Amino acid sequence: MAEPLFSLDGRVALVTGAARGLGLAMARSLALAGAEVLLNGRDEGRLRPGVETLRAEGLKAAALVFDVADDAAVERGFAAIEREHGRLDILVSNVGLRNRRPIDQLSGTDMREMLETNLTAPFILAKRAAALMLPRRRGRLIMVTSVAGSLARAGDAAYAAAKGGLTALTRALAAEYGAHGITANAIAPGFFATETNAPRVADPKVRSMVEMRVPLRRWGEPREIGAAAVFLASEEASYVNGHVLTVDGGLSASL
Ligand SMILES: NC(=O)c1ccc[n+]([C@@H]2O[C@H](COP(=O)([O-])OP(=O)(O)OC[C@H]3O[C@@H](n4cnc5c(N)ncnc54)[C@H](OP(=O)(O)O)[C@@H]3O)[C@@H](O)[C@H]2O)c1
Repeated sequence: MAEPLFSLDGRVALVTGAARGLGLAMARSLALAGAEVLLNGRDEGRLRPGVETLRAEGLKAAALVFDVADDAAVERGFAAIEREHGRLDILVSNVGLRNRRPIDQLSGTDMREMLETNLTAPFILAKRAAALMLPRRRGRLIMVTSVAGSLARAGDAAYAAAKGGLTALTRALAAEYGAHGITANAIAPGFFATETNAPRVADPKVRSMVEMRVPLRRWGEPREIGAAAVFLASEEASYVNGHVLTVDGGLSASL
């Protein structure tokens, strides 16, 4: 029988920042498509509920604890992947910090911290993941950027700079690793109703801004990001490389 479209059977995927929010939603979708998913976060206890929920659904999921901004911890994490799985097929680099401050209140230290976690860490993760993918001449690097990487809002300069850099890094990864059978693409979410955004979702002023700016007139639900990750990770996306897949309800397409 022909294999179903978008099957990830037999693939090993690492999703960073998967204790909750978009990371957990993408981890679940990848697992539903058949992948064995390693959910990363900094705390085993915070990862456990997500891992247990996926396992209760009969999905293949395990926790992998490390801080993406700690090079030595990242190295230990990848050594564990090599030891226990011998391969990595899909990286979803999803961790992203935010520091909403006007520029005059944003210090050099704030900016450096933001670039460290949102840009340097994904670079190191991608490089380390690619080293595991190169021997098989196949692999999928998926960077989670943001519409803020191409559309600016006042009071969000560090995040915009880091996500814009991450979008450019995605293209550089695509240009460099394409010759080795590894694709690199990005997902750019718009406004999503994640746990982190709960206070903003509850704020009537933010709600009316979202309803006015987003053509679909609502926040995205985390489950609405998962199919983008599955598509980019799949064999069906074999000729999609260096692309930014925007998932924003039409926000960036409208004035
Ligand atoms: N939500 C949105 O509307 C939206 C819109 C555009 C783009 N994005 C992007 O989408 C991604 C996910 O957003 P989100 O709102 O779902 O994330 P989130 O809830 O803020 O964070 C997800 C997880 O990341 C983990 N984490 C944080 N720092 C980490 C580190 N240094 N190392 C390892 N894990 C770490 C946290 O777990 P622990 O604290 O347990 O480690 C947390 O559970 C981010 O890159 C964000 O910029 C989100």
